[in-house]
Amino acid sequence: MNYKAVIFDLDGVICSTDKYHYLAWKKMADSMGIYFDETINNRLRGVSRMESLEIILEQCDKELSQDEKQALADKKNKMYVELLAQMTEKDLSSEVKETLDMLREKGLKLAIGSSSKNAKFILERLGLKDYFDAVSDGTNISKSKPDPEVFLKAAEFLHISPTECLVVEDAKAGIDAAKAGGFDSAGIGEAAACKEVIHSMHSFSDLIGIAL
Ligand code: G6P
Ligand code: MG
Repeated sequence: MNYKAVIFDLDGVICSTDKYHYLAWKKMADSMGIYFDETINNRLRGVSRMESLEIILEQCDKELSQDEKQALADKKNKMYVELLAQMTEKDLSSEVKETLDMLREKGLKLAIGSSSKNAKFILERLGLKDYFDAVSDGTNISKSKPDPEVFLKAAEFLHISPTECLVVEDAKAGIDAAKAGGFDSAGIGEAAACKEVIHSMHSFSDLIGIAL
């Protein structure tokens, strides 16, 4: 298939910020005596901050007010942003950068489709501030994955139809979102094994064979 554009999820695809999400949520959960592990963390991939908190609170028997929930989400985000602030361009792997450069050299448009409100800060830390042709993120959507809104917006920003775009994801919610929006998907990490995925990737550079 000749795609005109590739839309990348950010956390867990372009960079390993998924591990920082885990660390920050774990600290928040521990401070409340709430059980949290990697399996629960996997359910948070692609899911918005407040929806992630609701999933974590399934393990908590106390009823919390909306203000208390907001305070917990803010506390987690503060810890998360402190971890992001320590990132540098060295946190962008050479495999990812070389693959992106090659796709772009071959004429593909490249975009970000992430539920995160921290996406632009992360791109800046990685030295990718002005690299992508479009950035669709948690600041321009009202529904997070598995709703396709974030990817549909990215395609709209690029002026390219969903059927001509490939979505790259590490989350089941993201693969489902791609399908719902009429996009082909490529899955890496646990998303590689999703039933709905079109292309399974072992490594980021597999995109060269898939997208070109
Ligand atoms: C991405 C991550 C999720 C995260 C969401 C919101 O989709 O995969 O784990 O909850 O972004 O991130 P934020 O940085 O806005 O809290
Ligand atoms: Mg992800």
